[in-house]
Amino acid sequence: MVRLLIASSKGGSGKSTLAANLAAAFAVAGKNTALVDTDPQGSSLHWCQRRPDLVPGVLGIDGTRRHWDRGLPPDTQRLIIDTPAGIRPAEVEALLEHADVLIVPVLPSAFDLEAAAAFLAAVGELPRVRRGKVPVALVANRMKPWTRLSQEGLERIRALGHPLVAELRDSSAYAVLAGLGKGVFDYESEQARSHQDSLAPLLKWIKKFA
Ligand SMILES: Nc1ncnc2c1ncn2[C@@H]1O[C@H](COP(=O)(O)OP(=O)(O)OP(=O)(O)O)[C@@H](O)[C@H]1O
Ligand SMILES: [Mg+2]
Repeated sequence: MVRLLIASSKGGSGKSTLAANLAAAFAVAGKNTALVDTDPQGSSLHWCQRRPDLVPGVLGIDGTRRHWDRGLPPDTQRLIIDTPAGIRPAEVEALLEHADVLIVPVLPSAFDLEAAAAFLAAVGELPRVRRGKVPVALVANRMKPWTRLSQEGLERIRALGHPLVAELRDSSAYAVLAGLGKGVFDYESEQARSHQDSLAPLLKWIKKFA
C-alpha cells in the first residue's frame, strides 16, 4: 500500500482537488483506492459519493471519526488522506503515522507562499519529517505559466527546500470535474490528457514508494 497525506495550512490551495485527481488516477489504473477525508467540510467524501457508477470507484472514508483506519479494507493499495485548512503541526504529526509521503500544494501568490513557508518550517520540525522518514513533495497549483506571478512564484516554490514534483495549470476543468465526481484521468480528451501530463511527474514520484 502507498499512503499519501495531502496537507497545507492554507485554505483553497488545492488539497481536495489534488486528492480527488490522484484518487481517480489510481482507480483508473486498477488500484483499490481509498480517500480519507479528515476535513469536516467533507469535500473529498462528497466527491467519492458523486462518483458515477460508470467509472472505477474510490472508497470514501470519514476521517473525522475516531479509528477511521479500522474501516480500511485490507486489500487497499492506495490511501489518500485529505486534510482541512488551518491544520496544526501536531495534527499533521498524528496523520503522518498513516502516511508514507506528504504532498503540499502551493499557489504562486505572496500570501500563499508565506503561509506555505511557515507551514513547511513547522512540519520540518516534526520528527518523522526531520529524520527523513516521510518525504515531502510540493505541487505548484493554479499556475498560469505565461504570467510573471506564476514564473516568480515558481522560483519561490523551488526555494522552499523540498522537491517540486508537479505544476498544475489553472483550469476550470478541475472544478467542473470535481462537481461530477470525476478527475482528469477519467477522460481521454486532448485537454484531459494535457492535465494528465501535468500530474504524471507526481505519479512517477509516488511510484518510488510503491
Ligand atoms: N488547478 C486548478 N485550476 C482551477 N481551479 C482550481 C485548481 N485547483 C483548485 N481549484 C479550485 O480552487 C478552489 C479550492 O480548491 P480545493 O477545494 O481543492 O482546495 P483545498 O485546499 O482543498 O481547500 P480547503 O482548504 O478549503 O479544503 C476550488 O474551487 C477548486 O475547484
Ligand atoms: Mg479541501
